[in-house]
Amino acid sequence: MGKFDVLYKEKLTTAEEIAQMIKSGYNCASPICMGEPVDVVNSIADRVARGEIQNIRTNGTLTFGGRDYLKEEFAGKFDFQSWFFGAGSRKGGQDGRFDYFSYNYSDYPLIYDLRNDLDALLMVVSPMDEHGYFSTGPYFGETLGMLRNAKHVFVEVNRFMPRTFGENFIHISQVEAICEKDEPIFELPVGEPSENDYKIGNIIAEMVPDEATIQIGIGGVSGALGKALAGKKDLGIHTEMFSDAMVELIECGAVTNEKKTFHKRQSVSTFCFGSKKVYDYIDNNPSLVMLPVEYVNDPYNIARNDKFISVNAGLEVDFFGQVCSETIGPVPFSGPGGQFDYVKGAKMSKGGRSFIAMTSTAKGGTISRIKPMLTYGAAVTSHKNEVDCIVTEYGAAELFGKTMRERTRALINIAHPKFRQELEFEAKKMNILI
Ligand code: COA
Repeated sequence: MGKFDVLYKEKLTTAEEIAQMIKSGYNCASPICMGEPVDVVNSIADRVARGEIQNIRTNGTLTFGGRDYLKEEFAGKFDFQSWFFGAGSRKGGQDGRFDYFSYNYSDYPLIYDLRNDLDALLMVVSPMDEHGYFSTGPYFGETLGMLRNAKHVFVEVNRFMPRTFGENFIHISQVEAICEKDEPIFELPVGEPSENDYKIGNIIAEMVPDEATIQIGIGGVSGALGKALAGKKDLGIHTEMFSDAMVELIECGAVTNEKKTFHKRQSVSTFCFGSKKVYDYIDNNPSLVMLPVEYVNDPYNIARNDKFISVNAGLEVDFFGQVCSETIGPVPFSGPGGQFDYVKGAKMSKGGRSFIAMTSTAKGGTISRIKPMLTYGAAVTSHKNEVDCIVTEYGAAELFGKTMRERTRALINIAHPKFRQELEFEAKKMNILI
């Protein structure tokens, strides 16, 4: 038995025992989605429910369901602070039970540094190697910022976690206690894209040159775009989220990473989320490099890729070209994520472009997503001065460099036909169109 195996054995305990090490008043955090050890956080919640500890807080990003602390009875006892609402946490955010951070993803680690108040980092890792290192597998994101600040680090080892390469290693010497749980990783249901998603994907694909480096964000259009780009040559990947669409583009030969101008021959990512196909692809695969979000999403680094193409989804856009992608009116829906990091980085890249995709209507076709003004209270995710091109199933509105009148006209042209007259009327009332 090697010295790290001895250390492993010494530190090995159970989720319940790790929960016993959490003290009243602790501020805990777990990395994005599959990085959170559910048995550990549920054991902490059990202790809170039994009144053994009080005033516990946890932080999470894209948090899934199945966490007891999300339940209403824990409000005020085991508080949750969200960095990006996902299906598991959205309702509590909308009810006002959960507080939240709303920042560019590239800044999360900086905010952990600034607050410097993290007591415990709870994370899931893949099995230790012979040198004593655990890999964070499909995620990395803000983990370095958490690691720098956490007073105590606890890991759950899951043999289903793929082993990935990059900077995403943590050494056993940094870890206070270990528990084990072997469980398949949560898979993002990958549905068939809608007819409109395919139209949007095809419109964007026409504007993507061969040898571009791409980022594709979360949301409906990503699968369709993956298919629409299948005929391209020598694409590269530099993306916050590595998804099924990326694996398909690699497997069909559209992505080679050979013509990248930054991290040539490697796909760069900070977290991977999708079906088992994604997790199988990234396991022990040196062609994918997992790097911290403050590096991957740094607009200067994004811009080091020539012909950078960024594609993200939006919820609504107004005549100014202000894009909201995170709230419905003032009510939180998701979070800004790295959208603006990529809008900015793509604009700074030589030959780069950014696209914000949205179907022209929402709520079963009853409302237009192109609006004279954003809905009262909506957050601006991507600023009008930086937004490049908005795409709906009716075409592309290329906004950058256009006057207010030209922008408004371009946006009305891609609105659903049944809303165009009303939008034109409003634009005239606002003295934008004459
Ligand atoms: N007003 C009211 N409701 C709206 C709306 C609007 N303007 N726009 C959308 N909705 C409703 C939709 O009807 C839908 O509800 P339904 O399912 O009941 O029909 C729901 O809100 C979700 O809209 P949809 O467009 O389907 O969302 P999506 O799952 O495709 O996700 C974003 C789109 C914008 C929320 C998502 O991409 C996101 O969170 N982006 C921000 C982060 C980001 O871009 N990061 C970048 C890299 S990953």
